[in-house]
Amino acid sequence: MAVSVATAQAELLAKTAASQAIAEDRSEVLNSGLAANLEMPHPVFIDRGEGPHVYDADDNRYIDTSVGFGLHMLGHVHPVVREAIEARVPKGWMFGIHSTSQMALANLLQEGSPCAERVVFCNTGSEATMYAFRAARGYTGREKIALFDGFYHGAHDYGMWLADPSSPLEAPRALPMGNGIPGALHDLTVMLPYRNRAAFDLIVKHRDALALVFVEGVQSSNPQPEAGEFLRELAQVCRDNNVLFGIDEVITGFRVAYGGAQGRFDVTPDIATYGKVIGGGLPVGAITGRADLMNVFTGLGADRGVFSGGTFSGNPLTMEAGAAVLNHLKDHPQIYAKLEEQGNRLAQAVNGYCQDRQLPAQMKNVGSMFHMFFQREPINSSRDAVHGVVQAEKAFYLHCLNRGVLVPGTQRAFLSAAHDDAVVDELIDVFCTSLGDVQEEGLFTTD
Ligand SMILES: Cc1ncc(COP(=O)(O)O)c(C=O)c1O
Repeated sequence: MAVSVATAQAELLAKTAASQAIAEDRSEVLNSGLAANLEMPHPVFIDRGEGPHVYDADDNRYIDTSVGFGLHMLGHVHPVVREAIEARVPKGWMFGIHSTSQMALANLLQEGSPCAERVVFCNTGSEATMYAFRAARGYTGREKIALFDGFYHGAHDYGMWLADPSSPLEAPRALPMGNGIPGALHDLTVMLPYRNRAAFDLIVKHRDALALVFVEGVQSSNPQPEAGEFLRELAQVCRDNNVLFGIDEVITGFRVAYGGAQGRFDVTPDIATYGKVIGGGLPVGAITGRADLMNVFTGLGADRGVFSGGTFSGNPLTMEAGAAVLNHLKDHPQIYAKLEEQGNRLAQAVNGYCQDRQLPAQMKNVGSMFHMFFQREPINSSRDAVHGVVQAEKAFYLHCLNRGVLVPGTQRAFLSAAHDDAVVDELIDVFCTSLGDVQEEGLFTTD
């Protein structure tokens, strides 16, 4: 029998009292943003993880489709990562000064990232993209950076822009994402339409001022299986116009293939940025690229070069955890084939269900990255994602959570190697049953 939103909400509230208490205490202390899983009215707080699952403060178990915002390729607390961390701890985990742990991960990145003649470590994906922009500006002496409608490159001021939805699709205008972003940066940001040839004309128009054209390997807001064709053309346009081309592999690196989007789509940029997977679950970022470009990084006391540094950059604990994950992925290439199969199976089952029932909902996926959209219209760029039936979307995630499937508030979802056949079967069942509940309650209609 179909379950109503009211029932699901009441059931969830009854079984998440400890999370509710944390939410109440938190509001008096912590003001940081929270990628809340749902307004139910409180988020659930996670206490521990194991393989494909997380357990909340009340010990409820969920299939985790966030896996640390995409970073746990092997699931939670995988033995190879745990052993690497435990082996480092008795020897000391933080020196600031370069340690013996860095070379293994640097070598793995140099081998695994097609554009990597050189590697620089930092601590987050945001830092990596900030440094990539700085390197491009330092190398070229130009100041503008071109970014694509629908992107996310991290939290620094140069990346906090979005395309004004009221501006023309083919000539998007940049709007700051919230307050506090200096207006002066507006003129340094060229906004381009994603997967649209008008972007090429804009690159030609701005080429003398452009330091870098920067794009996600696959947009996480809009995972498009055919993203590669556009990337390859874009690389060529940049080469023809003497503009540096960069790929943000913070999500796609070592996820959509061992070689990331570069490997999957056969495209080699001048520079690429990494984070997430390569740190084994500890904070990490990295920039890889052509040697002549990367040589601008001179570190401390930069003399006409580009500064990079940071107390925690390349810290031994992260380096050991990251090398353990990448070595495991390198030695088990079948993981990628299986993830691809599982991601496609999930999307086909959910999309088949939606089509059979003529629901205005669809799942898009690139291998193990997936995203639900609550609309019937096709989605080619994020401008097409209209956040159709909001009440249906909210109700769907509430039912999923109540049935033990956690989808992050960002709605960007992932599978890991620990999500085996049985877990994916359960995901399909929960997603379809929840969509059915939403339909039965009439929440797909807007009137
Ligand atoms: C494509 C991309 N770039 C950069 C970032 C920023 O990484 P971090 O959150 O580690 O700063 C993210 C984070 O989700 C991302 O998805």
